[in-house]
Amino acid sequence: MCGIVGFAGARRASDIIYNGLKQLEYRGYDSAGIATLSDGKISALKRRGRVSVLESEIEKLGGVTGIGHTRWATHGKPSDENAHPHVFGKFAIVHNGIIENYSDLKEKYFGGVKFNSDTDSEIIVRLLDKFYGGDLVGALKKISLILKGSYAVAVICADFEGIAVLKRNNPAIIGYGDGENFAASDAPALAGLCSEISVLDDGDIALITKDGVNIFDENLQGVVRERLVNLATPASLDLGGCPHYMLKEIREVPASVERTRLAYLTVESKVKEVLRGVKRVIITGCGTAYNSGLVAKRYIESFVKIPAETEIAGEFRYKNPVITPETAVIAISQSGETADTVEAAKLAVSCGAKVVAVTNAPYSQLTRIADVVVPVGAGSEICVAATKSYTGQIAALYLIAGTLAGIDASEKLLKIPKLCKETLEHIDIDTLADMCARSGGVYFLGRDIDYAVALEGSLKLKEISYVPSEGYPAGELKHGTLALIDIKTVAVVIITDERLAGKSENAVEQVLSRKGKVAVISNVAGIEKRLEGRAEVIKIPACDEFLSPLLSAIAVQLLAYKTALLLDRDPDKPRNLAKSVTVE
Ligand code: AGP
Repeated sequence: MCGIVGFAGARRASDIIYNGLKQLEYRGYDSAGIATLSDGKISALKRRGRVSVLESEIEKLGGVTGIGHTRWATHGKPSDENAHPHVFGKFAIVHNGIIENYSDLKEKYFGGVKFNSDTDSEIIVRLLDKFYGGDLVGALKKISLILKGSYAVAVICADFEGIAVLKRNNPAIIGYGDGENFAASDAPALAGLCSEISVLDDGDIALITKDGVNIFDENLQGVVRERLVNLATPASLDLGGCPHYMLKEIREVPASVERTRLAYLTVESKVKEVLRGVKRVIITGCGTAYNSGLVAKRYIESFVKIPAETEIAGEFRYKNPVITPETAVIAISQSGETADTVEAAKLAVSCGAKVVAVTNAPYSQLTRIADVVVPVGAGSEICVAATKSYTGQIAALYLIAGTLAGIDASEKLLKIPKLCKETLEHIDIDTLADMCARSGGVYFLGRDIDYAVALEGSLKLKEISYVPSEGYPAGELKHGTLALIDIKTVAVVIITDERLAGKSENAVEQVLSRKGKVAVISNVAGIEKRLEGRAEVIKIPACDEFLSPLLSAIAVQLLAYKTALLLDRDPDKPRNLAKSVTVE
C-alpha cells in the first residue's frame, strides 16, 4: 500500500529509485514520483499513472540523493497534484500510511491556508517546514508527537545530503550498501542492491547518508537495529518466461506447498509447545488469507475436535471478542503487514492468548508479535492476487492442525506437490474461462471445504477480471439467490467431497433447470458421465478429501487468470487494488 524508496550514494539517485519503485508497484500504482537533491536544491517529478510514466523524464533529475513513491490513493483521487513527493520549503516527503488527524492539524497550524493537494500526507511536509529550525531529527520528533495514524515517511531536506525516515505502524527498512545506503517499504525494492537490511521499529527516526546510517529510537537514543539477510534477489523477481507474474506464481504452487512442508519441520516443536493446552482456536486474516482460514477451521474441528472460528481481522479487532489465555489465535497474512491482521494479533496478545503467525514475510510486523511464526514457503509473490501464498497457507494450516491433533500431517502432504503438478499439466479451463468472460455473473458453489474454496474462487475472479461473482454454500442457493440465475449466469460448482457429492449435484440440477450454465470442478468418479452434455466438467486428481483445496485452488486461480486475459485486464495489477494493505 504505497511504496517508498530512498537512496543516498554516489550514483544517480533517480535511476536507482525508479528501478526500486518498479519493484514496489504491487503496493499501488495510481501515481508515481521522485524527488532528488543536488547542490542543496530539491527537484521533483510526479505524475498520475504507473511508475513507467516517469521513465522519459527521470534524466532531468540530477543528484545522488533522493526519494520516490508509488501511490495507492486513500485521501485525494489519483492525480498529478496528489502524487508524492510533496515538496514545500526546504523539504520533500513521501509517505505510506494515513494521517488520521490531518484536518485537525491543518486547521490548528495553518488555518485557512490552501494546500497544493487533497492528500492527508501534505500535512507532514507543511509541519516539517513549520517546526524546522536547523535540527532535522528534532523537527521529525516534534511532528511524530502530533501525528495520529500510520506512517512510513522518507524525507529529503535542502540542508542535509542524505535522507531521513520516520516510522510508525507502517513498514520501513534500511538497506546497507557499499558507499551507498537505502530506505524502502519492502525488501524487493532493494533486490540486487544490498544484501543486508534492518527493519525499523515504531517511533524510529533514521538518518541515512552514503557513508552510514544513524537510527534514533522513540526517546531519541541512538540504537542499532539487527542486520538481516535481504532475501529478495533479482531472480525472485524474474518472470520466469511467463507473460505475467500471476501465471508464474500459479505454476509455483507445487514448490510453495513443498517448501512450506519442509520449513514447518523447523518450527513444529515450537508450535507444539506454544499450543499445549489450547482449548479453542480463532483464525483471523483478510481476503484470501481469511479464506485459507476457513479451510483451517475444518482441519482443526475435524482433526482436533476443539472449537475453531474464522474471523475477518477488520471485524474481529473491533467486536470486543472473548479471548482467554486458553485460546490460540492464528493470524494469517501473506505480507505480514496487513493493518487489520496485525492489530487483531496485538489484541490477542493483550488478552493473553497464544498467537501463531502464518506468513510469507519473514521480517514482517506480524512475526514480531507472534509467539511462534509458521513460515509459508511461497517465496516472493508479486501479483496483487494471492495464489501460491494461498496454497502455502493451507499447507501450513494443515500441518498446524496435524500438530494439534498429534497426526503426521507432513507425511500426507508429501504427495501433494506431484498432484499439483499433474493438475497444472492436464487441466483445461479455457472453455469455462470463455463462459465466465461472456457471462453476466458467476456463482461459485460448494459444500463444506469446497465452499471455502468457492469463496476464494469468487474473490479471485472478481479481483482480476471484474466479472461480478459471489461464493455460496451449494445448499443455500435455493434460499434466495436462485432468483438471479438465468441464461446469462454461470455456476461453478466445486465437488471434491465424495460424501457430499450427491447433495452438491442437486445444486447443479437446480441451476440447469433455470437455464443457467454450469461447470463442475471435481475429482469425484463418474461425474463426467452423469453430467455429459449438460455441464462443463473440469477434472482434478483424486486425493485425500482434506487436501483437495490445494488442487481445486489451482483450477479457480487459472480460471480467474484466463478470464482476465479474455477481457483484456492486467491480471498482475487489478484496478483500485494494492497487494499490501497497511491502512484501515
Ligand atoms: C488476494 O488475492 C487479495 N489481494 C487480498 O484479499 C489479500 O489476500 C488480503 O489483502 C490480505 O493480504 P495479506 O495476506 O498480505 O494479509
